[in-house]
Amino acid sequence: MANSIVLPKIMQVGGGALALLPDTLDALKCKSACIISDKTMLQLGLVDKVKALLTPYSVNVGVFSDVMPEPNDTSLKAAVELVRAGKFDCLVALGGGSAIDSAKAIALLVSHQGEMRDYKVPRIITEHSIPVIAIPTTAGTGSEATKVTVITDSLSDEKMLCMGPGLMPAAAIIDYQLTLSLPPRVAADTGLDALTHAIEAYVSRKANLFSDQQAIAAMKLIAPNLQSACLEADNLKAKEAMMMGASLAGIAFSNASVALVHGMSRPLGVHFHVPHGMSNAMLLPLITEYSIPHAPERYAQCAMHMGLVNNLDNLSSAHEALIRELKRLNQTLDVPSLSAFGIEQKRYHSLLETMAEQALASGSPANNPRVPSIPDMVALYQSAWT
Ligand SMILES: [Fe+2]
Repeated sequence: MANSIVLPKIMQVGGGALALLPDTLDALKCKSACIISDKTMLQLGLVDKVKALLTPYSVNVGVFSDVMPEPNDTSLKAAVELVRAGKFDCLVALGGGSAIDSAKAIALLVSHQGEMRDYKVPRIITEHSIPVIAIPTTAGTGSEATKVTVITDSLSDEKMLCMGPGLMPAAAIIDYQLTLSLPPRVAADTGLDALTHAIEAYVSRKANLFSDQQAIAAMKLIAPNLQSACLEADNLKAKEAMMMGASLAGIAFSNASVALVHGMSRPLGVHFHVPHGMSNAMLLPLITEYSIPHAPERYAQCAMHMGLVNNLDNLSSAHEALIRELKRLNQTLDVPSLSAFGIEQKRYHSLLETMAEQALASGSPANNPRVPSIPDMVALYQSAWT
């Protein structure tokens, strides 16, 4: 079977890559950039740093710094107006997944008609929009190298999955030095998201030889470095490995899809505002256990690529090592249980059916090695409650 692989046109990779932003603009023939970012980046001085880099090369530099976490369609409107009014010819997305996901959606809405809900799956976005230059400041979502954006519908609260080659950033600047001031909680949540991307891409029913190589490389980089990157402020090697691993995991899932963990995780974000990576981590051990019987070799290979076992002589031992490590990481990185996060038990249980239906509607569960029914997902949500 043939696969269409989509990647950014330009990737500037490594410590100090941010300095190559003007060259990147030049290569894309862009002359007028609007920075899409958030208040944290503004306070850290990163928006001013990027603005100063752009000013000598860009005819006009705009700044929109009101990106919201887990962005919804309403939050994009002011940015779309700003970019249209300023006639900017490209967007520089600076921040975590929310900034980059917002910039992809803003570029689409600036260049084409309609609302974000018109573009959600199963529609495939092939339309060309103004270029997005993505500069991640977290090692996690991989959004800089994916053809995916997730925007919440403010009317229905649905986390809309939007996909297609038209959403791939034109360029990605992957500079781990931008992650050095990440708070440990954010580093843990985004890093666990990246690990989930790598594992889900590898076991996905849409996995292919290309995506497998990215997923394997991502697991090899992420698994031994995630804990150190989060807990050791000076461990630059671990932070560099995490940044590369997160981007490769993004490439892997963008070309193979995520699966049941992401499908069931998004409703936890919608209804209870659990950060994306954290809700993935809460579900990852449980859903891995549920899925293993339908892809025993693949999951054992995950354990091997994560450095947990040396060989595949005993699949059961590899599975045990994988589950043990996923639980250990959650414990070490202080991932709370659903109840410890503050979710009210009664409300959680009243929403089980709704969340299962929303998970199914996203399409992601269908990519899982073990495809669940609605009652299966209700049971999994029930088991996840601790
Ligand atoms: Fe994710």
